[in-house]
Amino acid sequence: MAERLAIDGGEPIRKRPFPSRAEGFGEAELAQLTEVIRSGHLFRVGGAKTAALEEKFARLLGVKHALAVTSGTAALHTAIGAVNPDPGDEIITTPATDMGTIIGIIYQNAIPVFADVTPGGYHLDPESVRAQLTPRTRAIIVVHLWGMAADMDAFLEIGREHGIAVIEDCAQAYLTTYRGRLAGTMGELGCFSMQQSKHLTCGDGGLVVTDRDDLAARARLFADKGWDRSTGGRGHLFLGMNYRITELQSAVALAQLDKLERIVSRRRALGDRLTAAISGIPGLYPPADSASSGNTYWFYPVRVVEEEFGMSRDRFVEALNAEGAPAWVWLDGKPLYAYEALRDQVTFGSSHHPFDSPYVSRRVEYPPGLCPNAEQTLKELVTLTVHEFYTEQDVDDMAAAIHKIAEAARK
Ligand SMILES: Cc1ncc(COP(=O)(O)O)c(C=O)c1O
Repeated sequence: MAERLAIDGGEPIRKRPFPSRAEGFGEAELAQLTEVIRSGHLFRVGGAKTAALEEKFARLLGVKHALAVTSGTAALHTAIGAVNPDPGDEIITTPATDMGTIIGIIYQNAIPVFADVTPGGYHLDPESVRAQLTPRTRAIIVVHLWGMAADMDAFLEIGREHGIAVIEDCAQAYLTTYRGRLAGTMGELGCFSMQQSKHLTCGDGGLVVTDRDDLAARARLFADKGWDRSTGGRGHLFLGMNYRITELQSAVALAQLDKLERIVSRRRALGDRLTAAISGIPGLYPPADSASSGNTYWFYPVRVVEEEFGMSRDRFVEALNAEGAPAWVWLDGKPLYAYEALRDQVTFGSSHHPFDSPYVSRRVEYPPGLCPNAEQTLKELVTLTVHEFYTEQDVDDMAAAIHKIAEAARK
């Protein structure tokens, strides 16, 4: 007989809480922060910490330029500002991503065009991207979701063929590898988030990387009000934002950066351990492991196909939580275009600008069913947590909870 599930009044597999990431902050961060406070200089311009963070991150990735900004959203907006689309130009991306991927497109008066993901997958399908190309396409934003690499060679080829920029959204993909290359170093620009949940964090922050001098220069200006500081004067060369990170954030990020490689290798070991432990359960699809996808495990996604698994996705989440294992539903199970801001094009004032602006070549709308594969994946998706402070026993407890529920579901 299958063991009684905790959700039905049985004994939970796990009674003590899983580890938190809070222990990742300590003396090194305090020492860096103390130096900034003692220096009395909290502003990035003329400060040492942001410059050091940028230099060190660029070296780690093997790129020419890194620019630290205030968030991942700001990094993506800055990358789009560097590419400098004309109003009404189109930027193709995925609806299975954070809103931060989209915001900068609309603020630059460009139009987000959604391509679908591969069936049962997380990443853009190159063929779907090709189908969305128009003469107005100016860039593709490829998201490396969950720490797994998207099929970059295909996107780089599309970029080359059509003379459009490829921007990599690596918010979830620090040190993710693709055919020996690092995520963020393959397209024209790579963008990272340093929000609390990310592999590298300072609470909120972002990084933009590029090998191109022209894009780097424009990105730096864009994130600093278009202000050309090289002359010593105050020339605002074009419309930009203030996305300047502070020395306080950079100080914490600098201390965290020293830990990044260890964080990633630990997550790879633990994530792969969980994948090995839960592979083969009918109707439960774990992510690709680190060897096959470069996975660095931001969180840990599994897809639950109800008809094969024997239990609904939502009941699986409740059952896991009852067993003491954290699990949740990302994006409320919906593609981004199902949210009001995009579905109803709620943008500036009472307008739908830029969607209804005279600069567009066509009216782009986001009806349900637009990207059926993404909709299906998000309906099936459950997010679990695996991070560097988990032990092998923690992972084994999660696997035991999953097996216990799967067995009950099969009955
Ligand atoms: C794929 C992706 N892109 C962009 C962002 C936006 O980053 P931020 O929250 O730092 O603005 C996130 C944040 O979760 C993300 O996961």
